[in-house]
Amino acid sequence: MRRLVLTQFGPPAESIELREQPGEPDVGPGEVLVEIAAAPTSPSDLPLITGRYPVRPELPFALGLEGAGRVLAAGSAEHHDLVGRQVVFLPNYEQGTWADKVVVSAANVLAVNEAADPLQLSMIASNGITAYGLLSGYADLQPGDWIGQNAGNSAIGRYVIALARRAGVKTLSLVRSDAAARQVTAAGGDAVVVIGEETDAAIADALGGSRLALALDATGGPDVDALAHALAAGASVVSFARASGQAATVSIPDLIFRDVRYRGFWLISWLQRTPRPQVHAVLRELADLVAGGELVAEIERTYPLDRFREALEHTVRPGKQGKLLFTP
Ligand SMILES: NC(=O)c1ccc[n+]([C@@H]2O[C@H](COP(=O)([O-])OP(=O)(O)OC[C@H]3O[C@@H](n4cnc5c(N)ncnc54)[C@H](OP(=O)(O)O)[C@@H]3O)[C@@H](O)[C@H]2O)c1
Repeated sequence: MRRLVLTQFGPPAESIELREQPGEPDVGPGEVLVEIAAAPTSPSDLPLITGRYPVRPELPFALGLEGAGRVLAAGSAEHHDLVGRQVVFLPNYEQGTWADKVVVSAANVLAVNEAADPLQLSMIASNGITAYGLLSGYADLQPGDWIGQNAGNSAIGRYVIALARRAGVKTLSLVRSDAAARQVTAAGGDAVVVIGEETDAAIADALGGSRLALALDATGGPDVDALAHALAAGASVVSFARASGQAATVSIPDLIFRDVRYRGFWLISWLQRTPRPQVHAVLRELADLVAGGELVAEIERTYPLDRFREALEHTVRPGKQGKLLFTP
């Protein structure tokens, strides 16, 4: 078995080792052996590796929060029905997924739709649950409502568009380039605005008199204010990432006079407060949408495990068009 292990906090090239464990692994009671088909990287892996993330695991640490694969063996009779099944990992910091095979607690995997493409499946746990949690937790969205988001061309942005469409909710996406705007339109976005000098006017124009019932922020920075201005009174801006590295700007008059709320979403907190059957139900639904071709994330490139330095550099390369996956 081969796996990528974090041995110290610091730059990936100096901190990660590809370790090999010879022989057949022991699969204990309550555990299963999974052959990994694909495991994505995420922009948040970089702060985790360099030690600047709220989660600071004990070292050495097996990397990889999520992924998909197939169960090869089970350690207890009660899990024999999982053998041969396609599974998705519940996001966790326990066994690592940047590996060719892992022994994992059976509670950390879920058997899902066999018709789902394993590469697409590998990306649903973190980004899919995040898109679901953002849309379900902060507004009682009704068909015909508008929501706004920045980074609309991101993987999560496109999941948000797909899930909103299913609910009859319309999306307005802010992006940074014409190429990104074309991606959003191709993904089914209802309105897209390229950030520029006239962002507020372009948003008002696109909404045609409607107001946003929810605004989702993945970037931080001054442009969040444009989404906040377009919110209905009492509605929320929810930040879940800060790709720009800057704090989100929300104008104080919007907070005071229009009761705009400013909230944050973290997948790990959502997983801690959500009953396990509901987590399973959400993941099964997302996997079914993958199988039906309704939930698709762009894949920029796949990498073998031994090219992890390049894969991680690529993960934060400006202008990339999709996700990076380890396909051991
Ligand atoms: N809070 C949570 O629980 C949670 C869960 C999952 C993921 N996340 C975070 O959510 C974010 C999106 O994830 P993803 O997988 O969808 O990422 P992704 O597909 O790699 O997309 C990254 C997005 O960030 C934009 N971006 C990059 N640098 C930027 C900058 N300096 N200013 C403004 N925008 C910038 C990109 O725009 P361009 O295409 O124009 O470069 C792109 O739209 C990541 O930061 C990830 O860590 C958070």
